[in-house]
Amino acid sequence: MGEKRGSFTGKLGFVLAAAGSAVGLGNIYRFPYLAAKYGGGIFLLVYIILAVTFGFALMVGEIAIGRKTGLSAIGAFRSLNKKYAFIGYLAALIPMIILPYYSAIGGWVMKYTSVFALGQVGEAAQDGFFGGFISSAAEPVVWFMLYIILTALIVLFGVEKGVEKVSKFLMPVLVILSLFIAVYSIFLPGAMEGVKYYLLPDFSKFSATTVLAAMGQLFYSMSLAMGIMITYGSYMKKDVSIESATTQIEIFDTGIAFLAGMMIIPGVFVFSGGTPEALGKGPSLMFAVLPKVFDSMIGGRFIGLAFFVMVFLAALTSSISLMETVVSIICDKLHVGRKICCLYVFIGCVILGLISCFGYSIWSEFKIIGMQMLDFFDFVSNSVMMPVVAFLTCVFIGYVIKPQSLIDEVESSGTFKRKKLFTVMIKYVAPICIVLILISSLLDVFGIFKI
Ligand code: TRP
Repeated sequence: MGEKRGSFTGKLGFVLAAAGSAVGLGNIYRFPYLAAKYGGGIFLLVYIILAVTFGFALMVGEIAIGRKTGLSAIGAFRSLNKKYAFIGYLAALIPMIILPYYSAIGGWVMKYTSVFALGQVGEAAQDGFFGGFISSAAEPVVWFMLYIILTALIVLFGVEKGVEKVSKFLMPVLVILSLFIAVYSIFLPGAMEGVKYYLLPDFSKFSATTVLAAMGQLFYSMSLAMGIMITYGSYMKKDVSIESATTQIEIFDTGIAFLAGMMIIPGVFVFSGGTPEALGKGPSLMFAVLPKVFDSMIGGRFIGLAFFVMVFLAALTSSISLMETVVSIICDKLHVGRKICCLYVFIGCVILGLISCFGYSIWSEFKIIGMQMLDFFDFVSNSVMMPVVAFLTCVFIGYVIKPQSLIDEVESSGTFKRKKLFTVMIKYVAPICIVLILISSLLDVFGIFKI
């Protein structure tokens, strides 16, 4: 504990590092499929409202806890109040559940990168291509193993700084490329229906499940409610404004997610007629739609390749940061060497990741509460554990350490314009809403009570 922490140089360094870890598959692949599934415009609207209220308050709270204590999640909660260290433990469990299935999806991205590199765009644009791929027993496993081995090697040899530098440099390229693809998609014949679906909220599609899905996505995409932002905060310099850094991370993260939706959702209308079935595809949406978009484009093979390479890098920086987090938690707890820790984490990840892969192939008959394994891991972490951790964090800040203690931390480096919003959200609105939404939507999932 006594050792000195390195810190980010200035605000830009902090924002880039936090946004670099936050932008990943959550934005590019998860956001569009949820938006398509949960009513388009209404999902987008709910998401944005949550981002500027809940998301803002929670991110400020987590960064401030980290900077105030100079510790990562478990230590931070413990140092503020011994009895509440359990929140840190609970938060620390979440990256452990996410990493394996995140890597399985990372493997899919690698597969698509290779498909585009080999010029097989026409094949990838066929209807059954993705389904055929994930339901085969061996291929997804091979790609998953390649992806997780690569992640583990980078973490093991400590070269993540190099990878992060490359990807920071490539981030603007990803934005420009996404803009280009989004504009192209909008002008495809029949795309306007999709644009309307995505931008105009249809209030009849509003439900508690929509709010829970948007909330889980917000936490996932911004890496909230799992201790990550506490760790980032612990490396933040004392003179950087927490409030404006938070605003910038949120704008960046939401901007990329919005663009990804713009690329994918109009495509669903163009190529599959926007049927509820096509919109509700879930995790496979991006992989089913984008190859069709690229196939229809002159030079789509190269644009597609460039796009998947970028997505691969964005995913890789996120999984490196996830693995790094898990390894450091385990190192701290078990007091064993870093190499051994990497090995443990790698083995655990391979086991859980294989379960995720097989859930789509040889074990596809086996379902938990109607979900395949990967969807189940995703549901448990995003829709159950993160809301619970977010609720506990709000209660902890609101009633144990009191919002004022964090407001002081924020104000030590500048003004805190939205401190009223922060206090009201943390003390009342967020915890009450989280509990109500969590309960009603769990009842819904288990089919006990339909709202
Ligand atoms: N936010 C990342 C994404 O959008 C995913 C993620 C979740 C993550 N938890 C994380 C990334 C922890 C880094 C560290 O894809």
